Amino acid sequence: MKPLPDLPGALEASIGLRVDQIDTPALVVDLDAMERNIARMADFARKHQVLWRPHAKMHKSAEIALLLQRAGAVGACVQKTAEAMAQAAPQARIDVLVEIDVGQGRCGVPPGEPALALAQAVARLTPLRFAGLHAYHGRAQHLHSAADRRDAIAAAVQAARHTRDLLTNAGLPVPLVTGSGTGTLVHEAASGVYGELQAGSFLFMDADYARNEREPAQPAFEQALFVKTQVISACSSHAVCDAGHKSHAIDSGLPTVALLPPGRALRYANGGDEHGVLYADGPQARLPALGQMLWLVPGHCDPTVNLHNFLIGVRGGLTAGVVERIIRVDARGALT
Ligand SMILES: Cc1ncc(COP(=O)(O)O)c(C=O)c1O
Repeated sequence: MKPLPDLPGALEASIGLRVDQIDTPALVVDLDAMERNIARMADFARKHQVLWRPHAKMHKSAEIALLLQRAGAVGACVQKTAEAMAQAAPQARIDVLVEIDVGQGRCGVPPGEPALALAQAVARLTPLRFAGLHAYHGRAQHLHSAADRRDAIAAAVQAARHTRDLLTNAGLPVPLVTGSGTGTLVHEAASGVYGELQAGSFLFMDADYARNEREPAQPAFEQALFVKTQVISACSSHAVCDAGHKSHAIDSGLPTVALLPPGRALRYANGGDEHGVLYADGPQARLPALGQMLWLVPGHCDPTVNLHNFLIGVRGGLTAGVVERIIRVDARGALT
């Protein structure tokens, strides 16, 4: 593999190391799990005959955006222009989607007449091309009850369908309705209204998505992003690891501790920006020993990735795998 030009020496030297040799704390991607998630998503989109344009604000990496496109994604969805600039050349012709608020109460014009007026204004402006409706319901993604997510997206689909038909009847065809995320993609895919899915977190997943009650039709995405940490202090009541909230975002809750033997559950408690405090979770559970390596599942993958310059890609699993490559987080801090 070609060395990355400004890869810090220690990181470059870590290629080929066994997982137990990776310095901590480190943000690690289980490449096999990530690739299985990509294959599941590609398969899902193919079966439902929808396009997929995964949100790149999660991984922020040109290498991963390319990987997804090689697997069939039609492009990358970004939140900020700077994220797009960090990952690809800008296009000359500018396609404009009109965003409608389908229930989130954040951005977008109301569905119906206000969306028609805005789309007509876009269509009149050269070189803008009215490319369709953006109808993303972010809040619905993390409703933990499957029934609540289904109801929220049923209302979103109804609003998107009504707006699409209104525009079409007014002589403004709607080439595409786009939206959806990892929590609700089964509903938008089955709607017959959405032609494109923007789900991004399916690639890595996180502890908050793991709390969602699973829809039977939902592909079984697996956890692929972990913070590797190690125990740096231990006493009879608790242990302390070297990953605090400088290593992982806590906006969606604290990390969970993964890959522990049965009956050895640990509860992670906030120990500040550099530490995590670990308690045995259950009467049989034992505390980890000094120096033991542990794997944390971050509460929320997007802001966790944005705390790191590089992801460490491991091949062969988190027990006996090796570092295969270092993935740059190109658009880290691209906030404009
Ligand atoms: C506009 C938009 N589309 C799609 C997504 C992807 O959602 P997820 O990463 O939960 O799959 C997001 C995430 O916040 C988003 O803001």
